[in-house]
Amino acid sequence: MADAACCPDQIFAARNEPGTVPTTEELDEIREEIKQERGDVCIQIEIEDDPRHGGYVCMTQTRSRPAPPHDCSIAPRQQMNSITHVFDGSVVYGSSQAEQDALRSFEGGQLLTQTVNGRVLPPQDLENCPAADLTAQRCPFRGGDTRINTTPNLMSMHAVAIVHHNKLANRLGLINPHWSDERIFQKPTFHYYEYLPLIIGDDIIRKYKLESYAGFRPEVNPSVLSELAHGAMRFGHSTVGGIFGLVEDSDADTFAFLQPHFFNTSLLYNGGYSQCIRGLLGDRPWVIDRNFPDAVSFT
Ligand code: HEM
Repeated sequence: MADAACCPDQIFAARNEPGTVPTTEELDEIREEIKQERGDVCIQIEIEDDPRHGGYVCMTQTRSRPAPPHDCSIAPRQQMNSITHVFDGSVVYGSSQAEQDALRSFEGGQLLTQTVNGRVLPPQDLENCPAADLTAQRCPFRGGDTRINTTPNLMSMHAVAIVHHNKLANRLGLINPHWSDERIFQKPTFHYYEYLPLIIGDDIIRKYKLESYAGFRPEVNPSVLSELAHGAMRFGHSTVGGIFGLVEDSDADTFAFLQPHFFNTSLLYNGGYSQCIRGLLGDRPWVIDRNFPDAVSFT
């Protein structure tokens, strides 16, 4: 089935003229089609009488890919990670060798970049680029994490990390001219010394000795609990605001609504990098609570 949705009413709406109302039989037919073709991938959530959901009666929900337990025993279904679960900077460096190779220049330990109007930005993802963007040389960005293109602030933060890596690599290369590309590349990995203490507090940082990286310990199982990935760590969604700050070169404060900027690289390609970074310096995360702005809710 071509439709990515799991909800019969949404699939019906996509296939028919706007305003056509499905019969119960038509919905049942699509329901059966979903079951046959997508197995248990769809676990859609029924909605009752909620005007915020534009008349739809169902919310698309797909199941995570299944994974066996580490010992491959018969046990309840677990979920598959698509990025590494270790605190290893995979956001910047990728989660597999192939991803990492596609991000490297293989010279002087550098990560690939592009320069647009004098500003260093993440490289273009030529493989996932609509034809018009390819012609205009405005492809989505390629990063260690596919979410790089979600919002302008995230794109800017990726740019900061890449530029920082390349700066450190440059310095290392100057001090150690005999070092190979590989040796330089592996050195400047950096971690979240500033963000993490703010979230979990200095006491927990001290208790679990997270102040600095003490080296790889093969006996430690670093995998993420489902409860963390699917519940606790998503606290971050409530910290995302519906608007984000932009500070102009003249120091004037402005802001933009988040919604039209999702997966939209135009701000960055049009020289908005500095505005975003200065905006981020002044923006506060929204309060961690049970509420989400419309921009990150299903509407
Ligand atoms: C504009 C900002 C963000 C957007 C649009 C966004 C969107 C999403 C989406 C669509 C998913 C997958 C939902 C699903 O299928 O279950 C997801 C998962 C997740 N998000 Fe976000 N998110 C944002 C920011 C954040 C932040 C700031 C944090 C934490 C600090 C966070 C933590 C997570 C976690 C832990 C998951 C689950 C990952 C997994 O399945 O392993 N997100 N997010």
